[in-house]
Amino acid sequence: MALPTINPTTTRAWKLLENHFETIKSTHMKDMFAKDNNRANSFSIKWEDFYVDASKNRIDEKGMNLLFELAEEVNLKDAISKYFQGDLINQTENRAVLHTALRAPKTAKVFVDGENIVPEIHDVKEKIEAFTNDIVNGNRKSHTNKPFTDIVNIGIGGSDLGPAMVVDSLQYYKNHLNTHFVSNVDGDYVNEIIKNLNPETTLFVIVSKTFTTQETLSNANTIREWFLKSASKEDIAKHFVAVSTNIEKVKEFGIDENNIFPMWNWVGGRFSLWSAVGLTISLSVGYKNFEALLEGANQMDEHFKTANFENNIPVVLALLSVWYNNFFNAESEAIIPYTQYLNQFATYLQQGIMESNGKSVDRAGNPIKYQTGTIIWGEPGTNSQHAFFQLIHQGTKLIPTDFIGFKESLHGNEDHHNKLISNFIAQTEALMNGKTEEEAKKELADKNLSEQEINSLAPFKVFTGNKPTNTIFIKKLSPNSLGKLIAMYEHKIFVQGVIWNIFSYDQWGVELGKQLATDILNELSGNASKPHDSSTQNLINYYKS
Ligand code: F6P
Repeated sequence: MALPTINPTTTRAWKLLENHFETIKSTHMKDMFAKDNNRANSFSIKWEDFYVDASKNRIDEKGMNLLFELAEEVNLKDAISKYFQGDLINQTENRAVLHTALRAPKTAKVFVDGENIVPEIHDVKEKIEAFTNDIVNGNRKSHTNKPFTDIVNIGIGGSDLGPAMVVDSLQYYKNHLNTHFVSNVDGDYVNEIIKNLNPETTLFVIVSKTFTTQETLSNANTIREWFLKSASKEDIAKHFVAVSTNIEKVKEFGIDENNIFPMWNWVGGRFSLWSAVGLTISLSVGYKNFEALLEGANQMDEHFKTANFENNIPVVLALLSVWYNNFFNAESEAIIPYTQYLNQFATYLQQGIMESNGKSVDRAGNPIKYQTGTIIWGEPGTNSQHAFFQLIHQGTKLIPTDFIGFKESLHGNEDHHNKLISNFIAQTEALMNGKTEEEAKKELADKNLSEQEINSLAPFKVFTGNKPTNTIFIKKLSPNSLGKLIAMYEHKIFVQGVIWNIFSYDQWGVELGKQLATDILNELSGNASKPHDSSTQNLINYYKS
C-alpha cells in the first residue's frame, strides 16, 4: 500500500503551529530555561548509550505537542509500519525500501513479493563473513601467492560515501589492511591512488548497484588495464570482486561469478552500506565489527518502531527540523561532530538527506508550495569553531545545529578529551545564551577601556543567542553506536519525507545532468553536436581549442 498524499499545510496542526509560531518566534530560550527548572529534562531523551538533549530549541511544550499532532495527522505511525513491512513506498520506482531488513535478525520475517527476504540476506552476510576472514587471515592470496595488503573500493555516491565514512570513522578498530576509495571520474585522482599501490597485493572491490554508472565503470576499466600490465586475464578472478544487482553486466566486465556479492533493488544506494556494499567496511574492521554496526542500526530501528513519539529520537529530531525549516524559514542545518573520526559524517549525510528530501513535487504529482529538504553541511569541532562558527553565532541566518559528542575518548587522553568536550558543551551554551550589551560593556570596562571605546566596541561584542542546537551525547564511538547514529538520521529523513508529502527514495534529479554529459561527451569524441545555448557552446569550444 502506498503512503497517503496529505498536504501538511492543510492539516489542523499546521494552522495551529502557524499561530503558535507568531506567539513564540521572539521568545528567548534563556527565558524559557529561567521559567522552567525542569526544561533540560523534559526536552531530553535517554536511550541506551544515547543522551539526546533537545532543550536548547526555540520551542515550548505546546509547540512540541502540536508537532506531534502534525505527525499523527499525516499518519506517521501507519507510514512507519509500511516502511518496515516492505510496502512499495518508493512509488515512482515501484520498489520497497528495506535497508532496515538488512540489519534484522535471522529470525525476522520480511516479505517482498510474497517471499521472506531475510534468509537470502543472511546467506549474503555469510558470504561476506567467509570472504572477509579469508582475506584478513591471508588464506586467500594474490595471483603471486602473497597475502593482500590493500583494498580499493571503486564506486560513487552511495556505493562510496557510506563505506568511506564508516571505514574512516572506525579507523580505531581497523586491521592491517590499507583501504582506498576511488570515486570521482577524475583520472588524475585515480592515478594518484594507483601510483602508490602494488598490483600484486591489491584487491579491488567494484561497487555499483546498477553497474552502469559512468564514473565507476571508467575507473574500474582504467584500473583493470593498469592491473593487466603486470598480470594476466586469468588473474582478474583473484583480484577483482563486485557488489551489484546487475549480475550480467558484472560478468561481462570479466568478474568471476563466485566473486559477485549480490544486492537488491529494494535497497537505495544511499542506504546501502548495510548490504554487501559494506564489504570494504567488513574487510577493514573485520566481520564482527561489521555485524556490530548492523546490530546498532537494528536497535535504533526497534526504538524508532516502538517508542512513542514523545520519546522517539528520530521523530523528535525530524519534527524540530520541520519546525525550523517551515516556520522559521531556516535554509540549512549544520552537523558538527566533536571527534575527528566523524570527519566525513556530514558529507555522507549530504547525500542521505539532500538526495532523499530535495524534492519539489508532492506524492500526488503536484508542485509543492512549502519548503522541503534542508541544506546539510558541517565539519568536526573544534576546527569548525575556528572556521565558520562566526556566522552561526553572529551572522544573519538561523542555522539549527546538531552537536555530536562522545563521553569517552578511544585512546583515553583525558586532558585532550576534557578540552574537546568543554568546547562541545560551551558552544551550545554560548549559542543559546548569547551575550547581552550590558554583559559586553561590563567585560570591556573590566579591561579598563574608556567609556567612548566601550560604547563604540560594544555592538560588535554582542551575541543575540537564541540559536537552536541539539546535543547528541553518546557514551563511546564504537561500531554499535555508529550504527545507531547513522540509522537515527536515516529515520529522521523518512519522517520528514512523510510530513512533506514527498517521495524520499527516488533521485530523478541526478538524471538530467548525466544525460547532457553523455551528449557532450559524444560531441567531444567528434560525433554530431546538438544545439546548445551560447554559453554552453562557448565552453565546449574553449575546451576543444
Ligand atoms: O547519484 C545517483 C546515484 O544513483 C546514487 O543514488 C547512487 O548512490 C549512485 O548514483 C551510484 O549508483 P550505482 O551504485 O548504481 O553505481
